[in-house]
Amino acid sequence: MIYLKTPEEIEQMRKACDLVSRTLGELSKWISPGVTTHKLDTIAREFILDNGGRPACLGYQGFPGTLCIEVNETVVHGFPSTYTLREGDILGIDTVVELDGYNGDMCYTFPVGEISPEKMALCRTTKESLYVGIEACVPGKRIGDISNAVQTYCEKRGYSIVREMCGHGIGKRMHEDPEIPNYGRRGIGPIIKDGMCLCIEPMVNMGSRNIVIERDGWTCRTRDRQPSAHYEHTLAIVDGHTEILTTFDYVEEVLQDKFI
Ligand code: MF3
Ligand code: CO
Repeated sequence: MIYLKTPEEIEQMRKACDLVSRTLGELSKWISPGVTTHKLDTIAREFILDNGGRPACLGYQGFPGTLCIEVNETVVHGFPSTYTLREGDILGIDTVVELDGYNGDMCYTFPVGEISPEKMALCRTTKESLYVGIEACVPGKRIGDISNAVQTYCEKRGYSIVREMCGHGIGKRMHEDPEIPNYGRRGIGPIIKDGMCLCIEPMVNMGSRNIVIERDGWTCRTRDRQPSAHYEHTLAIVDGHTEILTTFDYVEEVLQDKFI
């Protein structure tokens, strides 16, 4: 069941998405070699609470952190830990903030210090594929048009798409219908309509598309242990247009010339 949002609800979504965007902006200031992911998690939790939000991942189906931490071969849903960031890592941070009952969901993959040209290219293509997906998110078209656009863009450049995880609708709940796969055929799936709030989140691998879930039941990594990148925006369809509710501006202002 797809819940279409009223203009008032979309205004609430904008506020939740602004807070999640500012949270990632705050974290950008702290990301460097030598920092533990647990420290980043604490900073995020305090920032969200100080700004009147609720860290929606924390406790979600037993998830133990505010942030999903995705270092190198981790695709999604890694735990914050005592792991210390190292020069050359790529660090995906995916988090959801609930504000006044509505959720904003966003992910950004950060370079830690200097990263290899191969990792840089992976991240750049993944981020670009998110915007290619957003371009394909046109009212009157279908969810499959988004999926196909993301897949085609990444595979043409020699990368593979993780198939087990998808984007999704969002609103009062962090995961609502419809599912938004990052692969598939054009012209299939639900029609994109005014009032939909959607998360598009390509998860793109340098090597094969295969993943494994670690014994903790959450951490998803590439089977071949090659790197994976992940970017996500929350969108709303308003008056026949697609509005991006989250923004990378706060992050990229901090990263300056170092962003991907
Ligand atoms: N953006 C992630 C997702 O859509 C958030 C997961 S929160 C978690 O899957 F608690 F499930 F980790
Ligand atoms: Co999501």
